[in-house]
Amino acid sequence: MITREQLIKKYLDFFISKGHKKIPNSSLIPENDPTVLFTTAGMHPLVPFLLGQSHPLGKRLVGVQRCIRTGDIEEVGDEVHHTFFEMLGNWSLGDYWKEESIKYSVEFLTKELKIPKEKISITCFKGDKDAPKDTESEKIWISQGIKKIKFLPKENNWWGPAGKIGPCGPDSEMFIDKVEIWNNVFMQYLKNEKEEYIPANQKNVDTGMGVERTTAILNKLKDNYLTDSFLPIIKDIEKISKKDYNKNKKEMRIIADHIKAAVFIISDGITPSNTEQGYILRRLIRRAIRYAQSIGVKENFTTKLVDSIIQIYSDYSELKTNRNSIITELEREENKFRNTLERAINIFERITKDKKEISCKESFLLYQSYGFPVEMIEEECKARKIKFSRKEFDEECKLHQELSRTAAEGKFKSGLADHSEATTKLHTASHLLLAAIRKIFNDDSIHQKGSNITPERLRFDFNFPRKLTDQEIKAIEDEVNNNIKKRGEVIREEMPLKEAKKKGISGVFENKYGEIVSVYTIGDCSQEICTGPHVKNTYELGKFKITKEESSSSGVRRIKAILE
Ligand code: ALA
Repeated sequence: MITREQLIKKYLDFFISKGHKKIPNSSLIPENDPTVLFTTAGMHPLVPFLLGQSHPLGKRLVGVQRCIRTGDIEEVGDEVHHTFFEMLGNWSLGDYWKEESIKYSVEFLTKELKIPKEKISITCFKGDKDAPKDTESEKIWISQGIKKIKFLPKENNWWGPAGKIGPCGPDSEMFIDKVEIWNNVFMQYLKNEKEEYIPANQKNVDTGMGVERTTAILNKLKDNYLTDSFLPIIKDIEKISKKDYNKNKKEMRIIADHIKAAVFIISDGITPSNTEQGYILRRLIRRAIRYAQSIGVKENFTTKLVDSIIQIYSDYSELKTNRNSIITELEREENKFRNTLERAINIFERITKDKKEISCKESFLLYQSYGFPVEMIEEECKARKIKFSRKEFDEECKLHQELSRTAAEGKFKSGLADHSEATTKLHTASHLLLAAIRKIFNDDSIHQKGSNITPERLRFDFNFPRKLTDQEIKAIEDEVNNNIKKRGEVIREEMPLKEAKKKGISGVFENKYGEIVSVYTIGDCSQEICTGPHVKNTYELGKFKITKEESSSSGVRRIKAILE
């Protein structure tokens, strides 16, 4: 049996031996990236560097990244789909290209993982009007003794841009026993707003290997849920439900997957709510509870899975540190959902009393206003022999949800951070804002607690015990505008994290940075550890204006501001 930890170690050690530097496993919540809710690939934290900024650790990087993809949440339940997964990756930032990349992959698969060459099959890009057939990669695969090569169109063998514009290119996917385990993307194009593919100045390699799938394949398992990334959770669920996994696979897989994802999301600082990441978290927990009910688990159970998850991922020390808040949030959400369900059942009984049918409007009301999941409406109706048309319900739903869904999907589809001029300026303005708040209150213990930037505005959270007065808001605004007018230069330098800390320079997610960090100094007013990007000079920002000051959570204030 090869464990996930052994696979990860083998991968990291191999690429480190080829001159790669290990980058940290970043938060599931992308920093300063309003276009996505979660980190969905290992390349996410590297976006500025794929766009040309120099990385403090060099041009060859390797790492393992926790990821969440909720796009195909409905698919979870089979052997291979997950919302939470780990992705191994190696990156060349304008350094090596297809030849080394493919050679490294073959060497790793055959020498380190001992997979026979005959078992490996490859797909390459077939070519179209935008880019030629990738015969360059084909030749290299053949030179490495790989014989099974297929050419497929863009839908299959092209990756990115994750958003509308940005780096992208043909990829080569590696399959073992028909399962895709690794993807090497050759980012040699930039897609622009006119949907043209322009050859990129910096050619990058971006790869991704799924930990769960690869461990399953190496252990000759067809079911990812039988690997050590899942098995202890499945065993817990069997114990709690007193049911057999073999007879309740779909339900148990969904429960294990969703609660694991929830544990990681809570550990990264999110709590269940009705918006953005909090909403996804709520959906995951509630969906797991619903499936648990369907296999007879009526009591609270989610917190009983936490310790196995912490144990499986003992290399994530933050899970242990955050154990209490994970348990509190899960318990709270589970109680809340059970209360909701109880209330919804009461209303349901009232509505359907002495009736043989529930109308589409009534079922939609139950769903939307009382939080009653449609599957449960279906089940209750069935048990009481009440007629219910799922089709009509879905149509009604579609009508109501068109708008919000388009908005949400937009967030999942687009991946690359928005590094437009507008967001870059607002990002620099956030640094000036923090400096101004600290100066006005003469308090260096004030830190950034959250940031979200769209092209229209910045949103900045910081620790402060009370509402700000109008005078204070004005003073902060004036301080930022004075610093903009001073035409302060924005300078980026690299230094060891230790040195930056010694100098008292802070950053938001300090533990996510590597040994060497980049520090941005703005004029004589601000210094922060940050990945950027930023403007070159503060005069580019124009006029800064605070549009709102409110409470974010207990002890945390939120400011929204714009540049005019
Ligand atoms: N970014 C590429 C992927 O997610 C490697 O498949």
